[in-house]
Amino acid sequence: MNRHHWWRDAVIYQVYVRSFLDSTGDGIGDLAGVRAGLPYLKKLGVDGIWLSPFYPSPQHDHGYDVADYCDVDPVFGDLTEFDLLVGAARRLGIKVLLDIVPNHCSSEHPWFREALAAPPGSPERARFHFADGRGADGAEPPNNWHAMFGGPAWTRVTEPDGRPGQWYLHMFTPEQPDWNWREPQVAAEFDRILRFWLDRGVDGFRIDVAAGLFKHPELPDSPDPQADARTRDSVNPLAWNQPEVHDVWRHWRAVCEEYTARDGRERLLVGEVSVPTAREHARYVRPDELHQAFFFDLLGAPWDADAFRKVISEAMQDIAGTGSTVTWVLNNHDQVRTVTRYGEPTPQGSGLGTARARAAALLMLALPGAAYIYQGEELGLPEVVDLPDDVLTDPIFRRTGSRERIRDGCRVPLPWSGQTSPFGFTSGAEGAKPWLPQPEWFAEHATDRALADTRSFWHLYRDGLQLRAALPQLGEGSLRPLDTQPGVLAFVRGDDLVCAVNFGTAPVPAPVPGTPLLASGPCPPGVLPGSTAAWWIDGS
Ligand code: GLC
Repeated sequence: MNRHHWWRDAVIYQVYVRSFLDSTGDGIGDLAGVRAGLPYLKKLGVDGIWLSPFYPSPQHDHGYDVADYCDVDPVFGDLTEFDLLVGAARRLGIKVLLDIVPNHCSSEHPWFREALAAPPGSPERARFHFADGRGADGAEPPNNWHAMFGGPAWTRVTEPDGRPGQWYLHMFTPEQPDWNWREPQVAAEFDRILRFWLDRGVDGFRIDVAAGLFKHPELPDSPDPQADARTRDSVNPLAWNQPEVHDVWRHWRAVCEEYTARDGRERLLVGEVSVPTAREHARYVRPDELHQAFFFDLLGAPWDADAFRKVISEAMQDIAGTGSTVTWVLNNHDQVRTVTRYGEPTPQGSGLGTARARAAALLMLALPGAAYIYQGEELGLPEVVDLPDDVLTDPIFRRTGSRERIRDGCRVPLPWSGQTSPFGFTSGAEGAKPWLPQPEWFAEHATDRALADTRSFWHLYRDGLQLRAALPQLGEGSLRPLDTQPGVLAFVRGDDLVCAVNFGTAPVPAPVPGTPLLASGPCPPGVLPGSTAAWWIDGS
């Protein structure tokens, strides 16, 4: 066991800052709100928080379009508030991870503005991917790549002299130009940015699009140009997962180690790595690269015992020999929430979706490695599936001609208390509107209700986290699959902790006699009801 490496089996809570808690009354969550919520998170029992981007940004992709990497957007607070938040978290023993976005910046970043004002071939343009177009007068994009969020990956600029000119590359929206990591100034600038935040006391970084950064040096045409936009995964082998990116992670790891050597506090790098194979994924977490990379297959698995079994066994195989641990995820700010994903898409989430999401939570907390919880997951929040078109802000909606409503429904501001919106989310004057409307049924999921009801989702998470912290069998360690009947997934942690999940709807005999330590729903001795997970100590 490597108990002293806190990150290896940490439970990290993802704070989507604009939707967590608003301290100023403008309807948008902020850093002071996060600080006010820390005692709540302490009570829940998480080891750390990951803050979604709060940097100055025009917010075309909610902060994943960064205009200044070393400051706080006034909407979210300022550096003084940031320091207060880090100090308060440290006092509570909660680690703080920042979301760093190295693949692209905002089109309002000063360096991109300089590039637009500078001529083709200038050093200012070399920091990005500017290229001449093809066809008559360069009117066609330099290659056929598509952006992840729809449309071509190139936008043409108007040159300083007023003529139509070169094109620049953006794998996401046109407001997110991709950095050119072959230009040494870019690497040096990110070195400075890392150190700026490490000097302010952060415990590490979640790295956005960590298989990005480098493109094929010749920017050739892709054999399947639509692939990225179609799958929303980085599958264009010329635009992603280039071998040079590993050198960057080796360097960033060395920077982290340098800070650790100074004060003994381990810093964590966890990457958002979407690559085609488990083998490729494992390359990102070699001992001198990222500490961890999100394992998204659990999030993508349908509610089916065999599907989950396959995902778990592949993850364990994938991680063996890397020195890392699996980083499990069921929800995040880009995906439909589990309660809705596993149930019929009814507005409030069906009873079935909720039961399954509770079981999945207990399963995830029993798996070896680290776990990430997305805010609201601990409240069993369903997706808000019926937001009106005119409030949607996800650029995917805009870029797909209003066809795909993917990411707003999981980003609705949290309900904290009371019967009507804003449910304590905003402390502003009465009538202050959260930036996305909260449905009336959010009242059922408010934190005050959840805390008062021992049968709530919140208590399940809290109890699971408490046991995880107390029992040596949980957290990092081995997993031994148990043979059970079809539709049931069961395994042993350590010598005697059994976790079983019944994916079916009918009850089955429990794999262990007696009362479970913890169950996701009513679970009489000897029986594992449908859509239920439980943990037992096997005394036999
Ligand atoms: C990541 C983020 C997503 C963002 C994208 C572009 O996938 O999770 O929210 O839109 O990167 O930065």
